[in-house]
Amino acid sequence: MTDTSTATTASVPLAPQRLPLLGHALPLLRDPLAFIMSLSGYRTMVRVRLGPSSAVMICDPDLTRQVFLNDRVFDKGGPIYDRIREVIGDGLSTCSYTLHRRQRRLCQPSFHPARLPGYGAVFAQAAELKARSWRDGDVLDITQEMMTLTTRATMQTMFSGALPEETMRRALADTATIVSAFFRRMMTPALLRQVPTPQKRRYDRARKRLSDTIAQIIAERRADPTDHADLLSALVGAVDEESEDGRKQLSDGELADEALTFFLGGMETTAITLAWALHLLATDPDVQHRLQVETDNVLKGEKLDPAHLPSLGLAGRVVTETLRLYPPAWMMTRTVRQDAELGGVRLKAGSTLVLSPYLLHRRPDLYTEPDRFDPDRWLDAQPDRATYIPFGAGPRKCIGDQFALTEAILALTAIVARWELTPVGDKPFRPKVETSLSSRGLSLRLGERWAGGAESHGAHAEAPAPARPSTEPGVATCPVKHQER
Ligand code: HEM
Repeated sequence: MTDTSTATTASVPLAPQRLPLLGHALPLLRDPLAFIMSLSGYRTMVRVRLGPSSAVMICDPDLTRQVFLNDRVFDKGGPIYDRIREVIGDGLSTCSYTLHRRQRRLCQPSFHPARLPGYGAVFAQAAELKARSWRDGDVLDITQEMMTLTTRATMQTMFSGALPEETMRRALADTATIVSAFFRRMMTPALLRQVPTPQKRRYDRARKRLSDTIAQIIAERRADPTDHADLLSALVGAVDEESEDGRKQLSDGELADEALTFFLGGMETTAITLAWALHLLATDPDVQHRLQVETDNVLKGEKLDPAHLPSLGLAGRVVTETLRLYPPAWMMTRTVRQDAELGGVRLKAGSTLVLSPYLLHRRPDLYTEPDRFDPDRWLDAQPDRATYIPFGAGPRKCIGDQFALTEAILALTAIVARWELTPVGDKPFRPKVETSLSSRGLSLRLGERWAGGAESHGAHAEAPAPARPSTEPGVATCPVKHQER
């Protein structure tokens, strides 16, 4: 990369509210989203300090895209990935550029489009089971409910067949412990992270137990390598024909890292996307009603199936809009591997860059009324690949994007078919900002629907749904599907 610029990082403005020694750690810990949005006036870059170290936050969509696309220079790294690496080692999402291409080639077949209908059938069944488990009038911890749903669905698509209930329960509890500890550990200086507090001990225990569970499943699969048509079989059987060092397959250690990566990477992000989508529907009865009409018209009393996906246009737009408002990966970091230039500024090797989908998705110059939930903004518009980045972009773009969208749209449909959702209390619910933009603590009330859902699921059937005309145009499932890297 030719460096023709003269400006250095020192010329990038420093964000306000900095304290001596702590830098911006306090506002970032106290209210990270308010802090991030307070930076939206900076159109290109702004510097943020965390104690002695500093990071450059990229505020411009085109510069963000340049960073995503050039993963050789702007490599995975920085505090988020350093903490995640503690748990999942050098899996696909955390490994550096030098390891990445081989791992991506080996993991990609697991997400081949031909496998999606099979995974979709598992998602649809798991979602219907979950929706059937609730009772009229229930007040649910909806994030917890969605976590158990996606954990079960992810476990089944990864490891096929039913895992023992105790294994499932333990994996869920350990995942929750690990996920909630990530963000605090990311913000805590290295020395303090080693202090054996009860929290740290809990975190270490959960990490070890989850790794042991996965290692045990892998050992059993190695002993019986027949194709189980699941993610693990695809990983075990993957062959890298382009390998330059003779390592054509994943070793046991690599396999464990990848399995843990898919499990942790896929299950929480999809669960909170679903929880936010249900929250947004509960607070917008009009959209919720339209979605029920779509669901009734598409299912017509049939069992939910991945073949319904192309007709679930509004459900797709609800998910797209949810990911705009609450992108689970609300910020990402990169390490600059060699001196480089970005937007006319010279960046030194070793600098940390911060990218934020949350910031871009809520910029008023990029989205009309950016804080408003409006799935119809996607009716005639494809998401723009520079300004809509819930799955990142470029060579490190989420490998599970279609997997997650399929799961989210099917689960949303199964739930809305059967239940009317209403908020609990009248206080606005605010995200818990962790490594993900979490909906932890969100409650919703359920009322059983009088029609379509009950009819299609049998158990609570009362009256068949009267035919209501669809108000939805028959657009494809989800605009994100057509987005390129
Ligand atoms: C709504 C759900 C999801 C969201 C919002 C999401 C978001 C993201 C984002 C933003 C990245 C890029 C991170 C970066 O560039 O720093 C990413 C990467 C990744 N995601 Fe997802 N993800 C979701 C679901 C999934 C699922 C279901 C899986 C697997 C089953 C998965 C596995 C991965 C992996 C392995 C990577 C690393 C890819 C690479 O570096 O080549 N994700 N995800």
